[in-house]
Amino acid sequence: MSRTPSQSEITTIVDGVIRERRSIRAFLPTPVPRETILEILDVAARAPSGTNTQPWQAIVITGQKKEALSKELVEIALDPTRDAEHTQEYSYYPEKWIPPYIDRRRKVGYDLYGLLRIAKGERELMNRQFARNYTFFGAPVGLFFTIDRVMGQGSWLDYGMFLQNVMIAAKARGLDTCPQAAFCKYHRLIARHLEIPDERMIVCGMALGYEDTSRIENTLRTERETAAEFTRFME
Ligand SMILES: Cc1cc2nc3c(=O)[nH]c(=O)nc-3n(C[C@H](O)[C@H](O)[C@H](O)COP(=O)(O)O)c2cc1C
Repeated sequence: MSRTPSQSEITTIVDGVIRERRSIRAFLPTPVPRETILEILDVAARAPSGTNTQPWQAIVITGQKKEALSKELVEIALDPTRDAEHTQEYSYYPEKWIPPYIDRRRKVGYDLYGLLRIAKGERELMNRQFARNYTFFGAPVGLFFTIDRVMGQGSWLDYGMFLQNVMIAAKARGLDTCPQAAFCKYHRLIARHLEIPDERMIVCGMALGYEDTSRIENTLRTERETAAEFTRFME
């Protein structure tokens, strides 16, 4: 018979899952059952939201639907003329980069391309690696998240909590994820493929599946500033 875990067991498990979640950029083709996906999204929807507005909506794509979208997106991403026709709908990143953010951004790029042995300036290889986003890095499941345009900034805060829950609930089931803002640039094309109504906006995409542990890019470990560095106590 199972017993209730002790407080210290809960801490170890919950902290462990949070610490072990990483953005995975190469997946096995192993399918994920639909019930598991719904279970993850159900748990994630326990996220808090201002006045319980629950601003999230998810679209799950697999099989042919995913293949068709990926194929078109990869083609566009690798064709500068067609790519130039697409622009972001909302700015995820700052217009002007300043330290320490620019340094962190550069580091993760150098580290990832370093592992893949892609040298600085090897644009073609970099673009090809970046375009792997559009195949969901080989994951069997692609998720898209949308929000009603009428919702305010606070709802985006709620959305972040929901998305983190999705990633943690997946990790707790031995599944991995990669949140993907890369899709946002092609929002018009994606909206057409996935019949997203005009009133809704794409927040981001997300790859979901099992990590391919044999792949070098998945050995990437990102750093964090410690709480003692970014926190100030006052009495
Ligand atoms: C909203 C969001 C969008 C992201 N978009 C992408 C993306 O398009 N492609 C990608 O490879 N990683 C993407 N990432 C992953 C970040 O690069 C990653 O979270 C960060 O480097 C920290 O690494 P970790 O997730 O492994 O801890 C995104 C992360 C977030 C939170």
